[in-house]
Amino acid sequence: MNTFPHVRLRRLRQNEKIRGMVRETHLRVDQLIYPLFIAEGLTEPSEISSMPGIMQWPLDQIGGEVKRVADLGIPAVLLFGIPNEKDEVGSQAYSEHGVIQEAIRRIKVESPETLIITDVCLCEYTSHGHCGVIHNGTVQNDESLNLLAQMALSHVEAGADIVAPSDMMDGRVGAIRLLLDEHGFNQTPIMSYSVKYASGFYGPFREAAGSTPQFGDRRAYQMDPANVREALRELEQDLSEGADMVMVKPALSYLDVIRQVRDNCDLPVIAYNVSGEYSMVKAAAQNGWIDEQRVVMEILTGIRRAGADMIITYFAPEVAQWLRS
Ligand code: PBG
Repeated sequence: MNTFPHVRLRRLRQNEKIRGMVRETHLRVDQLIYPLFIAEGLTEPSEISSMPGIMQWPLDQIGGEVKRVADLGIPAVLLFGIPNEKDEVGSQAYSEHGVIQEAIRRIKVESPETLIITDVCLCEYTSHGHCGVIHNGTVQNDESLNLLAQMALSHVEAGADIVAPSDMMDGRVGAIRLLLDEHGFNQTPIMSYSVKYASGFYGPFREAAGSTPQFGDRRAYQMDPANVREALRELEQDLSEGADMVMVKPALSYLDVIRQVRDNCDLPVIAYNVSGEYSMVKAAAQNGWIDEQRVVMEILTGIRRAGADMIITYFAPEVAQWLRS
């Protein structure tokens, strides 16, 4: 009885009504986070050539752009800053009047309801382009922690709602939690880039954020793409240090990692659909090789099916519009 011809799986695929009723995975606009680049030196938006449709924004226009995105129903943005001046220790990253600190204040005026998440990492602010301070040619873990914590604190003091450390130093979640709590910000969540791989898919981002390392690469602190048991150790470390949400990044080549993280903790899991994943789809769509809307929805649904609660994606405004129509 339990086999064909009694069993016919096509019965539940006959029309959109029935397919809708049996659909297992849903993508909603309130699961989307939109990344934005703010460049201190700009007066007009400047398109990033490797990311069609994505801009570097001047401080004067960032509030308006966030308002536009918020009106589409997107609840949160993730901010990246491009400072005018870089130095060895990334001073502009934790300066009261740094580009991100100023951007936060402007967004809070023009779009007060939008959740502001800030990327906490030194690479856009250091002259050498690495995510921490350098001595003897290597990134120093413990010396970088204090600077990262100062950076997170300055974002929160300026009004950031959530901080997202992406540097991959050991102990940074704990260092940030401690400093935030000492300053009375015990209600500010930490969204940790817990499982972040050393990935070729960040290529377009580095053009967008001007954060290419001037020597070497990030393999001494970001994870080896071949490892998944190690991902669970990163997860464990961040849980013990007090992370409120955990992230897997990139998303597409790491769907199994998203699933493992989902199955091994009870925190919200975020996946970052990164710049290279965006650019590949855009390039193929511009050539007429794929149907952009269909492919984007399939990719994001796949990331949700793998276990992500939320997705950081450069497609967020387009998806918000598609979900409406
Ligand atoms: C900063 C950071 C990077 C990304 C997010 N935060 C770049 C990197 O680690 O080199 C990549 C995001 C993307 O590719 O969309 N450390």
